[in-house]
Amino acid sequence: ASGDGFIQLEAVKGQSRLYGEDGGLSDLWLYNGKLPGPEIRVKRGERVKVRFKNSLDEPTSVHWHGIRIDNAMDGVSGLTQPAVQPGETFDYDFVAPDAGTYWYHAHHMSWNQVPRGLAGPLIVEEEDNPFSPDADIILSLSDWRLDDNGLLDTASFGARHDFSHAGRLGNWLTINGTSLPDIPVRKGRWHRIRLINTSASRVLDLAPSRFGAKVIALDGQGFGTARDIDGVIQLAPAQRMDLVMKPDSAGPIPFEMMTGQPFTFANFVVSGEKAEPKELRVPAPNSLPEPDLVNARSFPLDMAGGAMGRMQSATMDGQELSMRELVQAGNFWAFNGQAGMGDKPLFSAKRGETIILESTNNTAFPHAIHLHGHHFRVLERNGEKLAHPDWRDTFTTQRGETVKIALVADNPGKWLVHCHMLGHAASGMMDWFEVA
Ligand code: C2O
Ligand code: CU
Ligand code: CU
Repeated sequence: ASGDGFIQLEAVKGQSRLYGEDGGLSDLWLYNGKLPGPEIRVKRGERVKVRFKNSLDEPTSVHWHGIRIDNAMDGVSGLTQPAVQPGETFDYDFVAPDAGTYWYHAHHMSWNQVPRGLAGPLIVEEEDNPFSPDADIILSLSDWRLDDNGLLDTASFGARHDFSHAGRLGNWLTINGTSLPDIPVRKGRWHRIRLINTSASRVLDLAPSRFGAKVIALDGQGFGTARDIDGVIQLAPAQRMDLVMKPDSAGPIPFEMMTGQPFTFANFVVSGEKAEPKELRVPAPNSLPEPDLVNARSFPLDMAGGAMGRMQSATMDGQELSMRELVQAGNFWAFNGQAGMGDKPLFSAKRGETIILESTNNTAFPHAIHLHGHHFRVLERNGEKLAHPDWRDTFTTQRGETVKIALVADNPGKWLVHCHMLGHAASGMMDWFEVA
């Protein structure tokens, strides 16, 4: 932070060895030249003042993902602010009302800017964070597409096949910008591990119980307890998961991805003499406005896709277009028969009203649907009430699945709803809702 209390954040061109020591330097776009961007950490209720400078050759903006923010500070170019032009600055100034693990990323042509490196962690601490700094570990998990030389494959950005299928999937994973890192942990101590999936499209299948970790928060929102999760839990693009773990034995503990064969992408390296055992203290949850399910209003959210799904035609800019015309315009996806941003909101809510979104995934692919400016509870999947109706800001939906979520629309403004598989958002799966 500088004298006036502003944190300086600058989008610049930079380089990094994604493939590791033997790999070459990939050309990336970075915040402050770092991969991931600098950690921004404040306490709950504190003001965040960021003076952002765009030193790229193209416009950009910064979105604060998962924060219940003032609409004007949401950082969505073309909706909440004009894009920040090359050489220009923009001051972001907001209060972070809820503790938890959040992140920030570019929100202008995100499909092109985020997978070049424009993402960083935003941590809002509880007043009484029980974990000391060296036991509070952030892991930004990123999926990259590298070419045969181990360099970022830039030629395939915007490939139609990616957009119309599962999105831009990579072939290389990094944690905090490094491949297969060692993560130091201390024997007998409780650690908090904050996972952030910054990938453009990759859903990570994780099994925290395999290394003795329990889950204490999803998308920043703490449960108030530590939950044992059997088997695999998915971390979709943009989602976060906070774990707690207490390594008891010496020797590396593999951190694995469970897609197919378990695949190690990091090792927790345990050191130190066994400290005197400390009780686990899990932070209390944020107090978020509870949905009023009795007086709620329901809206459908129908997801349809082109080539692979059942979408025959859709509206774009108020005009009915055939599937062929939509594909020519680069649109493969639609919410409620509308590809991309409509003139009218997808739904409108009165301030304070509870909205139930009844989503149906009528496409051949999974999606990760994110709503801006709000948290919501996931109530049901395929008609079954969930045992834990957890708070989220991004929910997954598998092909053919119906998912019901409840949100209290209490933040006035125009907010995006989009798939966080960024190529999907760019090719139709993005619209907006209004709270007035
Ligand atoms: Cu994390 Cu609209 O995005
Ligand atoms: Cu967001
Ligand atoms: Cu999607």
